[in-house]
Amino acid sequence: MSTLQTLAPAHVLAIAPYQAGKPIEELAREFGLDPATIIKLASNENPLGCSARVRDALSQAGAVLQGRYPDANGYDLKATLAARYQVPMNWLTLGNGSNDLLELASLAVLDQGMSAVYSAHAFVVYRLATQARGARHIMVPAKNYGHDLEAMFEAIAADTSLVFIANPNNPTGTFLSADQIESFLERVQAQYGEQVTVLLDEAYNEYLEPEARFDSAQWVHRFSNLIVTRTFSKAYGLAGLRVGYALAQERLTDLLNRVRQPFNVNVLAQRAAIVALEDQDFLQQTYVMNRAGRAQLSEALRTMGLDFVPSHTNFILVRVGDAGRINQALLRRGVIVRPVAGDGLPEHLRVTIGLPEENARFIAALTDVLAAP
Ligand SMILES: Cc1ncc(COP(=O)(O)O)c(C=O)c1O
Repeated sequence: MSTLQTLAPAHVLAIAPYQAGKPIEELAREFGLDPATIIKLASNENPLGCSARVRDALSQAGAVLQGRYPDANGYDLKATLAARYQVPMNWLTLGNGSNDLLELASLAVLDQGMSAVYSAHAFVVYRLATQARGARHIMVPAKNYGHDLEAMFEAIAADTSLVFIANPNNPTGTFLSADQIESFLERVQAQYGEQVTVLLDEAYNEYLEPEARFDSAQWVHRFSNLIVTRTFSKAYGLAGLRVGYALAQERLTDLLNRVRQPFNVNVLAQRAAIVALEDQDFLQQTYVMNRAGRAQLSEALRTMGLDFVPSHTNFILVRVGDAGRINQALLRRGVIVRPVAGDGLPEHLRVTIGLPEENARFIAALTDVLAAP
């Protein structure tokens, strides 16, 4: 009789599937709770939802849903992005979320007998995408919970074709300055040319303080081995629609396009992303609310005497000790946060910054749980 071992290659069997944040309905079923009383601070979503302009556009979606496939080349959205970043349209790739683009990059440049470099405690999909290709993964120890770019450069091996960098990083919320990234890109280019592709994942870019942001399209002009990815899932509030994009010069964009599903971004997602890009007021409102929420949570955690990693994102990584037990106790109180033991952080929980009242509810629940014997 065939067993799982004989039905799939070893590198697929080695994959530990992605653990998503627990949905509200699932927790309600498990603990017999009223879904309306549950708060979810587990998946770094925008607690404001999406902009009213996007909601209006979606409510008129009947007009664009005509039984046709989406535009396989995403012309309108790419044209909007190309104008925004001042790049040619053939430097853009759209993805079913930016997760899709991480997969596409690994499909395009990784294979068995090759390796990818990424940091410990970095976004877990770098490991999954590498494993799925049967490639070797080189996980570099973190420094102060963040990427150690010096060590990552040293870790690049003769068979390395891809380096993943998350900036800011998930789940730690750490940040690398533009100078640090630029000098890493210069060194990689000088030593390896186009042999090593660097993927810079900027899923949380919009939450950075304005002075910390950098126009990464400028780097794409300078570095032909660079792919920059961004998403509409976080600050733009379109997580449920699944849409992200990559900026890269023509050579790499052509490779991504070869391994892309033809219709990987649906009609509604393409339409919503264009409207979302036009609504910069909503983005600003999100940024301001997140900054205040980050201060609210940081202050409360400090008062509670808990260690946390200063965050540059819409979530905070906090050290609580027995994270498994505390997570269960929070769940029983209707509060969903994210355990991160799978990211090598068994004593921490990651909490997404929510609405002010959600943050307060989390702090009250955590205080209560920590006070319990
Ligand atoms: C660092 C990072 N990159 C990429 C993603 C993928 O997000 P999406 O596929 O929704 O764009 C996430 C999601 O949590 C993330 O944290």
